[in-house]
Amino acid sequence: MPDVRIEKLIKRFGNVTAIADVDIHIPDGEIVTLLGPSGCGKTTTLRCLAGFENADEGQIWIGDQLIFDSKQNINLSPQKRDMGMVFQSYAVWPHMSVFENIAFPLRIRKAPRKEIDEKVIRAMKMVGIEELKDRLPSEISGGQQQRVAFARAIVYEPAVLLLDEPLSNLDAKLREQMRFEILELQRKIGITTVYVTHDQEEAMVLSDEVLVMDFGKVIQRGDPEAIYFDPSNEFVADFIGKINFLPGTVKQVEEGASVVGIEEGGFRSEIHSTRTNYPQGQKVLASVRPENIHIHTSKPDQESNTWPAKLIRKNFLGGMFDMVVGVEGKELRARTPFKVEAKSGSEVFIHIPPKDVLLIHIN
Ligand SMILES: Nc1ncnc2c1ncn2[C@@H]1O[C@H](COP(=O)(O)OP(=O)(O)OP(=O)(O)O)[C@@H](O)[C@H]1O
Ligand SMILES: [Mg+2]
Repeated sequence: MPDVRIEKLIKRFGNVTAIADVDIHIPDGEIVTLLGPSGCGKTTTLRCLAGFENADEGQIWIGDQLIFDSKQNINLSPQKRDMGMVFQSYAVWPHMSVFENIAFPLRIRKAPRKEIDEKVIRAMKMVGIEELKDRLPSEISGGQQQRVAFARAIVYEPAVLLLDEPLSNLDAKLREQMRFEILELQRKIGITTVYVTHDQEEAMVLSDEVLVMDFGKVIQRGDPEAIYFDPSNEFVADFIGKINFLPGTVKQVEEGASVVGIEEGGFRSEIHSTRTNYPQGQKVLASVRPENIHIHTSKPDQESNTWPAKLIRKNFLGGMFDMVVGVEGKELRARTPFKVEAKSGSEVFIHIPPKDVLLIHIN
């Protein structure tokens, strides 16, 4: 299967810039996810790729074939692009049977009847819906409709698969199950895939690489762990998972350690970090994920990064406790899978290991 390259893509709708100079490379056989808030340009990027939307500027390559170039007026029609797409709403046709829905892309390509029969059956088997072949979409569940849309996207064996929030209409449990099914199927076919979602967990599970987008721009790209553990700015840190920000200034940097003076309301203290990515004097957000704030009922041994605190709220989410602790008037979010003996309202201590304090610059 070929790789896909998008270069310097720009798409405007009137005075809205939906895509603002984006470069994306999807290596052969990999899944790259576009992740970002509503309106950041994810669907528009996919539609430009598929050829349903004409970009204003840029180039798109599939392998060594140039399929779109604004300067040379190259613009292959969607049917010639060899891409399968699952739309944000599945867009299965209500008046056609499951079989006919899946057969449709082959019929418009004028495939012979025998080939249509074989390929439709194979695609249905692949997603496990052979027994539904004669039903109408109104006679199957949402999850099954999703599979029909998926089978229709892969039936003509496209080189590239484009998936636009394919799980957004499903309930939480099915959504989680389908993530793994999509991943398994994608690996089995080895198809180069662009996946669009605003669900960060889905992006984490599915992606070889995640591109975090905002206002039509790619803000950060990296594998899921890099995006989570090394967010490059406040937007990414805040969008991916939950995080506490403590604004301050780097006071001291030595080998393997920084000290940040926190300047947040009444919370004026020093926090130690093993990150040394900024020089003395730099304004930063000392940033801590909730799972890295440890709650103790008595004073822990560690001197640094330990504060007396008040347990303001404790909620059991099933599988973990979600808490709010107050330190010098600043509220911090903490999470742990372990049982917390302290009650809401009680005095506790918090400790934050220096290795878990990320530093993110403030402009
Ligand atoms: N046909 C259109 N005409 C005018 N503006 C549009 C059109 N399509 C998209 N836009 C605008 O372009 C921007 C990007 O839209 P897009 O649909 O790509 O967002 P998205 O990231 O897919 O969002 P969502 O998560 O809500 O699906 C938005 O500001 C949107 O209002
Ligand atoms: Mg969209």
